[in-house]
Amino acid sequence: MALSLSALWSSVGKKILMSLSGLMMIGFLFGHLLGNLPLLQLDASADAYNTYSHFLLSLGGVLILVELILLAGLLLHVWAAVAIVLGKKKARPVKYNNLKSAGGASKQTLGSRTMIYTGLVLLVFIGMHLKTFKYGPGSEGEKEYVAVVDGVEMRNLHKLVMEKFQDPIYVVSYAIAMVLMGLHLSHALWSALQSIGVYHPRYTPVFYSGGRLLAFLVSAGYFVIPVWIYFMGGAQ
Ligand code: HEM
Repeated sequence: MALSLSALWSSVGKKILMSLSGLMMIGFLFGHLLGNLPLLQLDASADAYNTYSHFLLSLGGVLILVELILLAGLLLHVWAAVAIVLGKKKARPVKYNNLKSAGGASKQTLGSRTMIYTGLVLLVFIGMHLKTFKYGPGSEGEKEYVAVVDGVEMRNLHKLVMEKFQDPIYVVSYAIAMVLMGLHLSHALWSALQSIGVYHPRYTPVFYSGGRLLAFLVSAGYFVIPVWIYFMGGAQ
């Protein structure tokens, strides 16, 4: 046990923890995107969207457990990333000047070189996102944000999302964050698979291209929702 704990503390152990927690969060991102894509139908999605989020809330303890696991994953991911970057700096205080693509298996790209910065932006984004939606207007039962669907009272999250995505500053900052998320994910998926030992001389190039394509699709999905709502003008 002592041996396995010290293995987790090693830089390889931290990379594996970072990869597993990152893959878990990518799983959440897929699910969250599927839950939010119906917003593209604008007003037509109101009842279904509110009912879906009401259903998630009704899961009570199960939802809280999932949220705690996600939070632990996020904290672990950030801790491992910062520890790895600081460890590298300590080991090599003078930076190499060569920033060209390393090619071959190491795949140095803009995405890989900016991971720590795009990751920190995402951390701020997540904090603000939770403040706006999860803990924002209506989270304490304010009357203006109550919807009634089939006689059941629930939080009108649809109204809040439509309101927020009518604010140009909010939409632009959201869209920029989603581009940075795409950059982060473009390296993350492939790198995580490599770190946990998914390697095959024939299929690795497929994982690499597939990872980048998935990163693009997920980020594009999140990018399009606020921009679409802004231009197509969801109801208030
Ligand atoms: C178009 C884009 C998005 C929309 C419309 C959206 C909407 C929402 C809403 C309405 C909630 C509150 C749910 C509730 O309280 O029941 C929420 C929660 C959350 N969102 Fe998003 N979101 C978007 C993108 C993102 C992105 C890109 C991330 C991560 C990088 C993210 C991470 C989260 C997290 C972690 C929660 C808390 C989940 C929970 O505690 O159950 N969201 N989102």
